[in-house]
Amino acid sequence: MTLTTHLYLTGFRGTGKSSVARLLAKQLGVTAIDLDEVVEQQAGVSISKIFEDAGESAFRDLESTALATVAKLPPTLISLGGGAILRAENRNCIATTGICIWLDADANTIAARLNRDETTAERRPALTALPALAEIERLLDQRRPIYEQTSQHRIETTDHSIDQVVDEILALLP
Ligand code: S3P
Repeated sequence: MTLTTHLYLTGFRGTGKSSVARLLAKQLGVTAIDLDEVVEQQAGVSISKIFEDAGESAFRDLESTALATVAKLPPTLISLGGGAILRAENRNCIATTGICIWLDADANTIAARLNRDETTAERRPALTALPALAEIERLLDQRRPIYEQTSQHRIETTDHSIDQVVDEILALLP
């Protein structure tokens, strides 16, 4: 299938964006871009290290620069970091360069997936001073309206396999 515009995947940490992107890319015959990886390549250090040395706002600057860079590439599948939709300039970039699909899950499912995921330590520094589950619940409350506003489709991933989610996305594409 030829993409005529970028296909962005958004959603909170642990909703399956990167895993879904890998499988979906195979089915579409495109190379998936993971925005977190682009940030780390451009910075030369892990996301956790960027947060530790320079703070979240410096990370958000790097994330916006990375998004602006990949948005200029030919149409492809782009998996966004969970907070990339927080800045208006990023939402505008997404809206003007592609379509966006929101992967959602409940807080307990997200907490369990983050615990199991070995990239969590390097890629997912704490975003608040709250305990893990409370942080997820708080940020989901804050961000769900923004994910909704930024995306054209919402896909529930709780109790859904990666294959099921990929099939649902494929069914949405023209
Ligand atoms: C973040 C999510 C992470 C990464 C960074 C910040 C967030 O990406 O960009 O740790 O603010 O939710 P994933 O959603 O790929 O884990």
